[in-house]
Amino acid sequence: MKNTMQMRFLSVPDNVGLARVAIAALAGQAPFSLSDIDEIKVAVSEAVSNAIIHGYKGKPDGWVELTGTLDKLGLTIVVEDFGVGIADIEQARQPSFSSDPERMGLGFVFMESFMHGLHVESTVGKGTRVEMQRFATIQGELSRDAQ
Ligand SMILES: Nc1ncnc2c1ncn2[C@@H]1O[C@H](COP(=O)(O)OP(=O)(O)O)[C@@H](O)[C@H]1O
Ligand SMILES: [Mg+2]
Repeated sequence: MKNTMQMRFLSVPDNVGLARVAIAALAGQAPFSLSDIDEIKVAVSEAVSNAIIHGYKGKPDGWVELTGTLDKLGLTIVVEDFGVGIADIEQARQPSFSSDPERMGLGFVFMESFMHGLHVESTVGKGTRVEMQRFATIQGELSRDAQ
């Protein structure tokens, strides 16, 4: 079970839905439950929303890249933007931290709790790359541990 999909879309808010549908269709090819897929969709929504809202400050003319890779362990997702970047990643990942007082600051918390691995790389003025992994569950065991 090896598959990869890659898509590139503009930083238009409606494209959050496009990313959710694409990742759900890919995840449906692996042994994920419907509730697993719901959680994966939330994590992808948060990362793509961040790229659009924060990376491009809501401007609709930036590119967002979404890559999903399935292998025997599960699903790896990369969301990348070429926007403003994050100056302090550790601070950005803190629960309740947001650079926008109107927001909850829980996006990274959801990504971390719904996925089994989260790596954030960012360069100010160049952009941000978020990589997340979700292990599949096989006979009640995480694929990682069932090896
Ligand atoms: N792709 C991104 N580009 C620039 N800044 C980002 C990006 N993703 C996250 N951030 C920064 O990290 C902070 C925390 O993100 P998050 O936990 O999703 O909370 P929220 O989106 O509610 O602010 C954001 O407020 C923003 O400052
Ligand atoms: Mg967010």
